[in-house]
Amino acid sequence: MSERGIPQSQAADAPKTVVVIGASRGIGAAIASTFAAHGHRVIGTHRGGGTPSGVEGFELDITEPAQIAELFAFVAKGGKPDVVVVASGITRDGPLVRMSDDDIEAVLATNLVGPMHVVRAAASKIARGGSIVLLSSVSARLGHVGQANYTAAKAGLEGFVRTVSQEYASRFRINIVSPGPTRTDMFTDASAEAQETMQQATPMRRVAEPQEIADVVFWVSQSTFMTGATVPVSGGIVI
Ligand SMILES: NC(=O)c1ccc[n+]([C@@H]2O[C@H](COP(=O)([O-])OP(=O)(O)OC[C@H]3O[C@@H](n4cnc5c(N)ncnc54)[C@H](OP(=O)(O)O)[C@@H]3O)[C@@H](O)[C@H]2O)c1
Repeated sequence: MSERGIPQSQAADAPKTVVVIGASRGIGAAIASTFAAHGHRVIGTHRGGGTPSGVEGFELDITEPAQIAELFAFVAKGGKPDVVVVASGITRDGPLVRMSDDDIEAVLATNLVGPMHVVRAAASKIARGGSIVLLSSVSARLGHVGQANYTAAKAGLEGFVRTVSQEYASRFRINIVSPGPTRTDMFTDASAEAQETMQQATPMRRVAEPQEIADVVFWVSQSTFMTGATVPVSGGIVI
């Protein structure tokens, strides 16, 4: 029977071209390394800090749309990307009234507008049946004191994905993985007290290691009938 829509399954171990935005460190580095360890061609972006071994580096600032276009032109020289992951992100925490214009604009530009530009560029370049995974945060669902800018950006990303998943359901899948506290620079930059509070607020009473998030991103990228979903990986914070 001929199938309409995207293929039901692709061989999980077939070589793929994978793009990871924000592969220099933290969760993105673990994601890029995971795909590379499975034998895929991985192009990872950084801002001068380099990428893990086995990952081709491409210098990119996600707030610069021209650089995003250059990235996809570069990737296309080796074939269409099968998987695109956006793992970059920043926080600029503080009470709303003390947030500067730049604190608001930089967080929205990096965590919401930049990923929208990446997905728009990927939509016309990605292989049919391909998969896009974006990183949100459980804070988007729960709210988090001091993170009005960050939670607005991440909640916006989740709405964006719900719409894009419908618009492009017959072409590619797009999903979100939403971590709880994870041991990266973003987490350890918080005060010791804030780290302890986040750990105690996690039902599993520990924070995630980056690999635990990367494993779910890898699986979600390969799932064949999931699109528009937000998958919490939060030690029980979001159920
Ligand atoms: N860690 C947590 O507790 C946690 C919890 C929930 C959600 N998340 C989300 O998970 C994702 C990964 O976070 P992480 O913990 O791995 O953060 P991280 O260790 O602070 O790393 C952030 C990454 O984003 C990149 N980046 C920042 N600004 C960028 C820009 N303008 N253009 C391109 N790349 C940029 C960084 O590149 P450079 O090395 O060049 O700075 C780095 O690769 C983020 O979306 C974050 O919001 C994290």
